[in-house]
Amino acid sequence: MPAAPYALESPAWQSLVEERQALANFSLRQAFTDDLQRFEHFSLSACGLFLDYSKNLLTANTLSKLVALAEACQLPDAIHALLSGAPLNNSEGRPALHTALRRPLGDKLILDGDDIVPHVHAVLHRMSELVSKIHNGLWRGYSEAPITDVVNIGIGGSFLGPQLVSEALLPFAQHGVRCHYLANIDGSEFREVSSRLNAATTLFIVSSKSFGTLETLKNAQAARDWYFAKGGDAKLLHRHFIAVSSNTQAALEFGIAEENIFPMWDWVGGRYSLWSAIGLPIALSIGMSNFKELLSGAYCMDQHFASAPLAENMPVIMGLLGVWYINFWNAQSHAILPYDHHLRNFTRHLQQLDMESNGKTVRRGGQPTASNTGPVIWGGVGCNGQHAYHQLLHQGSPLIPADFIVPVSSHNPLADHHQWLYANCLSQSQALMRGKSLDEARAELAGQGLDDASIEALAPHKVIPGNRPSNTLVMERVSPRRLGALVALYEHKVFVQSVIWDINPFDQWGVELGKELGKHVYQRLTGSDDSRAEDASTQGLIDYFRGRHRG
Ligand code: F6P
Repeated sequence: MPAAPYALESPAWQSLVEERQALANFSLRQAFTDDLQRFEHFSLSACGLFLDYSKNLLTANTLSKLVALAEACQLPDAIHALLSGAPLNNSEGRPALHTALRRPLGDKLILDGDDIVPHVHAVLHRMSELVSKIHNGLWRGYSEAPITDVVNIGIGGSFLGPQLVSEALLPFAQHGVRCHYLANIDGSEFREVSSRLNAATTLFIVSSKSFGTLETLKNAQAARDWYFAKGGDAKLLHRHFIAVSSNTQAALEFGIAEENIFPMWDWVGGRYSLWSAIGLPIALSIGMSNFKELLSGAYCMDQHFASAPLAENMPVIMGLLGVWYINFWNAQSHAILPYDHHLRNFTRHLQQLDMESNGKTVRRGGQPTASNTGPVIWGGVGCNGQHAYHQLLHQGSPLIPADFIVPVSSHNPLADHHQWLYANCLSQSQALMRGKSLDEARAELAGQGLDDASIEALAPHKVIPGNRPSNTLVMERVSPRRLGALVALYEHKVFVQSVIWDINPFDQWGVELGKELGKHVYQRLTGSDDSRAEDASTQGLIDYFRGRHRG
């Protein structure tokens, strides 16, 4: 793919600089007054999702300039390159083909002369077999009892995506197999998880693309030690340990039986891998047919991403809006606010998806970026956030664009609770947009009978700036298909932004240094290296640790 011109050097970027200046006094309240069709003009549907982006700081002119920027960056070509398997992960010389994992049987996707779609479906078939054996009680542990608990041992993309989806789709959980997640190296997590388990009826899934991640290997070792300590039969270890990895050799050397190793490919990044066998915990929780519904929802969004005109393309619109705020309004973070209990971990998955993809300041060709890039992704479930951090969203100094995500109906209707949940979601977005002027605050206080002096003292504290942007994503109810579309939507939003910023969203070199240094600190902590640390802080903290643990 020929290199596109760098966004910042394009006339389209300069045009947006001018647009930002032209919108210096833009008022969202006024914009809704001026255009009674604003909601219709700035909303769109795709794959069971409805996006209202009318509460954004933009006009039709702004939108067309953002689309022009996307065109200047040759976004349509980049989308085609992504979906067709071009080596967009240029620093590792790999494609990023997480979309291949949800291609239907019969599709063709040639990579290095080989059609990879049949391989994807062969693994799906193996997943199907395992899930039905476990669900039908045919997979027995060493005492011949059926499996009751599955523990996913993995971290990062080998944990967050499966956890998010399993929790989001809990209403679809079936067959009584309980799924647990063991990610951190902290022994307290191992203790907490294992205390709930019976070794005879527990299956461990060691999920690690590299099969070299410290936390995962240590936990897998601890799980095996625990299995033996609980009386597990060494000859029947294969009934209690399976692995998902692209490093088959390492999994074999750990002691996983070959027939228990589910492959994953190097053209799937960890944070994009829940659609692969890494998603086994999901399939074990909700069943394979629901897992395939999840895949089909993502496939629908892939098709939309590939074919919808840029100005009607949901991931493109969301990606461009993020660029607008980050690069022209100096937003440093983006809030994800799901108003759905089962989606409470969605933000955590998006943190890795977005921040490990676009948390970079080097362009694809190695030059430093000349603009801000990936934002801090944060947030959490509503209504809870209203009683925690929404104060800052409404009256704080930073401008923080927010995505509200809310289903129209609940899996667990309770009196009028869902109506209140939905009402709160909309009212938070409305309050961010409308705010409250000083005059309105004064009138409100006068209406409460306060005297003039009290009004003048209190009114300034009740002013809400307003004009704060948000998107609202609505769906009928959270389902496997709609959730698949939602996750894929954000995967593609992240990709859109990476194209504008000319960065590679599919590598993660930034996490290597910490891992390397960690080994040296460990050796100094444990005394196997008596050299001093490179700096007094690290050395002082090592001494503190050793001082408290000596003797
Ligand atoms: O954080 C670095 C990282 O490599 C992530 O990209 C990945 O999801 C995680 O660690 C786990 O890696 P693996 O699946 O290879 O154990």
